[in-house]
Amino acid sequence: MSDVISFGPQAGLTIPPWDKIDAKPLIELRSVSKSYGDFKAISNVSLKIYEKEFFALLGPSGCGKSTLMRLLAGFEIPSDGEILLEGNDIVPIEPHKRPVNMMFQSYALFPHLTVEENISFGLRRMKLPKDQIAERVDEMLSLVQLTKLRRRRPHQISGGQRQRVALARSLARRPRLLLLDEPMAALDKKLRRETQLELIDIQYRLGTTFVIVTHDQEEAMNVATRIAVMNHGELVQVATPVQTYEAPVSRHVAEFIGDTNIFIGRAEALEDGMCRLHDSRLNQSFLAPMSGKLVEGGEYYLNIRPEKMEVSAEQPTDGSNCISGKILDIAYLGNLSTYYIDVGSGKPLSVQMTNSQRTTSQRFTYNDAVWISWYPVDGLLLDR
Ligand SMILES: Nc1ncnc2c1ncn2[C@@H]1O[C@H](COP(=O)(O)OP(=O)(O)OP(=O)(O)O)[C@@H](O)[C@H]1O
Ligand SMILES: [Mg+2]
Repeated sequence: MSDVISFGPQAGLTIPPWDKIDAKPLIELRSVSKSYGDFKAISNVSLKIYEKEFFALLGPSGCGKSTLMRLLAGFEIPSDGEILLEGNDIVPIEPHKRPVNMMFQSYALFPHLTVEENISFGLRRMKLPKDQIAERVDEMLSLVQLTKLRRRRPHQISGGQRQRVALARSLARRPRLLLLDEPMAALDKKLRRETQLELIDIQYRLGTTFVIVTHDQEEAMNVATRIAVMNHGELVQVATPVQTYEAPVSRHVAEFIGDTNIFIGRAEALEDGMCRLHDSRLNQSFLAPMSGKLVEGGEYYLNIRPEKMEVSAEQPTDGSNCISGKILDIAYLGNLSTYYIDVGSGKPLSVQMTNSQRTTSQRFTYNDAVWISWYPVDGLLLDR
């Protein structure tokens, strides 16, 4: 696994703050819980978010992402725990007095106001001098590249442009922390991609700390410095995109972020930090690197990503892990193909291969008997 951690365009050159012992977080949650009646929406969450981070919250619907954002914005008060901004308790501070802004999923632009009036709305309410407002609005319009559309109303611009107006409006007051709840949910895939890159660029130029909620794991991987995976109101893992994908802490995280194949069984320790997992349903054994100390007789999950496996007609002879099967289905995606292969376990394995040559996409077809193989070091042994 690579240790290079990307953090802005200077990726990999500096030690990120979350790896420094003495780095001071911008935001800190200490054992925060939020209950509605006897339902716990947020359960004992402790978390540090650093200045200039692009922090993503990811998790299934109802896991508490928006609730966590609302706690940060001040629309909700924690039932328990503390929320600190630069070391100071912000729980008693009203939402509009916090240096925090939230951009809602439905951008909630004022339909009767022009683009520039929408952007200046919060500034006028702050009673900022007129020339300063004008200057800030110009700056924001150029930041989101909407200067030419400044006099249009929301219904006269596209969905992507509306998204940018909402972003400009929420950045106009120069918050220290911007919370974005599903900011790209209404955009199509291609526009989303472009908007993600724009967002990264804008965030980097302003140096504002962003916390984003998204349903889309690819989006989180693309934009975030770190990702918090949540489930049932708890933080399951907080890590960089690379760590989250390559070293998930549990089967749940592995399955939630990207596709994966999982073998289940008992494991025995071998020499050189390796172990052997025996999958009793398949009556097959596979080698894997050991992670920590094995518990004798404990059940383990061997996790291998589809792109780390290979399909071949012949059984490999190089000592890789391998298993034979029959092709059930092929999903052809142009640049790559995913093969769904029945190995007799009930759940087909998925193996992804790039179509690096025009003819490789026709390598195999349905019902072909094939071998699946992977290098032992590419497997990850998990105990939960
Ligand atoms: N005001 C409220 N009163 C009671 N329950 C609430 C309230 N707000 C949220 N909840 C519950 O808390 C849980 C978490 O809600 P939240 O909106 O944070 O989920 P989410 O992770 O943002 O989901 P989604 O991805 O669907 O937006 C849900 O089960 C929700 O029903
Ligand atoms: Mg939500």
